[in-house]
Amino acid sequence: SRVVKLAVIPGDGIGPEVIAEALKVLDAATAGSDVTIDSTHFSLGAARFLETGDVLTDADLGSIKEHDAILLGAVGGVPGDPRLANANIERGLLLKLRFSLDHYVNLRPSVLYPGVPSPLAAPGDVDFVVVREGTEGPYVGNGGAIRQGTPHEVANEVSVNTAFGVERVVRHAFAVASARPRKKLTLVHKTNVLVFAGSLWQRTVNAVAAEFPDVTVDYLHVDAATIFLVTDPARFDVIVTDNLFGDILTDLAAAISGGIGLAASGNINPSGQFPSMFEPVHGSAPDIAGKQLADPTAAILSVALLLAHLGLEAAAENVNRAVVADIAARTGQPRATAAIGDAIVSTLSID
Ligand code: NAD
Ligand code: IPM
Ligand code: MN
Repeated sequence: SRVVKLAVIPGDGIGPEVIAEALKVLDAATAGSDVTIDSTHFSLGAARFLETGDVLTDADLGSIKEHDAILLGAVGGVPGDPRLANANIERGLLLKLRFSLDHYVNLRPSVLYPGVPSPLAAPGDVDFVVVREGTEGPYVGNGGAIRQGTPHEVANEVSVNTAFGVERVVRHAFAVASARPRKKLTLVHKTNVLVFAGSLWQRTVNAVAAEFPDVTVDYLHVDAATIFLVTDPARFDVIVTDNLFGDILTDLAAAISGGIGLAASGNINPSGQFPSMFEPVHGSAPDIAGKQLADPTAAILSVALLLAHLGLEAAAENVNRAVVADIAARTGQPRATAAIGDAIVSTLSID
């Protein structure tokens, strides 16, 4: 029998509501198997900061590192809350986890499941995955301001792209593409304007392509990619892109494939040196928090990604199947967060 040590960070707003359902499904999907999930809850986020002033202590981080994987709901308070002005929960907690745990692959699949309404009239067969770089780009915090608050203020936010960082995520994206039926990889960047970073990304893709002759490669500027995500999303298979483009594209990708309530993600450390972290793409949704209005499906699909990452493919497939069945049976009548979790649990095939 195998024990999986899982760090659970429910977080703020709808985070705890969707994580409660995700854990129900995780328990049910592993019940009776030889895998035991040993969960430790970490109270982290805006609520913890307001209570104690802590964002992520070294002790928290050290303890999280001792786990096999992390499941996170969402962190962050109401945008603009003055009490959180200096807390910097997003950088100090979420990005600190991604950076410290070297989550250089941010995996964000988009599948338009049967029966899911899309805002697009003719979406076609949408099934692609964005491999978003997770540790570099404009997210690194390499910037500064001078003459702040004056009319002569200059604010710089430098995008950092290293040969090492680009190559490892590009190679991972090729491997993902090579394992999929269509074997197609699209680099999305802005090489016409961001010439230094763009050149590094393009040359890296060209070089790694030689190792994957089975993968078809193409390139789109990020602005054009937003057009095709709306007019012809079925053309995409694997998209590899930088941290910021990937952030923006994956909210758009979620919107065309059933909404943010269905979008799952994995922050992966492929070497296994540090625990990988699975989370819905959405945030804490303060506008609907505490009302059982949140769709827990994104968190539950993140559990499927978590199970697959742990090598528990059958359990992952079981969760995916149950979600797809639940989605197909949706009538448009609103259901409470817990009712959706319960319905998905009842659809799991127990064998
Ligand atoms: P958000 O994703 O929280 O909400 C955007 C919109 O989507 C809202 O109308 C919300 O009600 C809706 N929504 C989100 N998740 C939903 C779900 N599961 N079911 C139904 N509707 C859902 O984005 P925001 O409003 O920009 O951010 C709110 C807070 O969350 C901020 O503090 C932000 O920094 C933080 N945030 C955290 C994460 C994370 O922890 N990974 C990600 C994004 C934003
Ligand atoms: C996401 C979020 C985060 C990001 C924020 C909250 C730091 O938008 O996970 O997509 O920009 O990566
Ligand atoms: Mn985002």
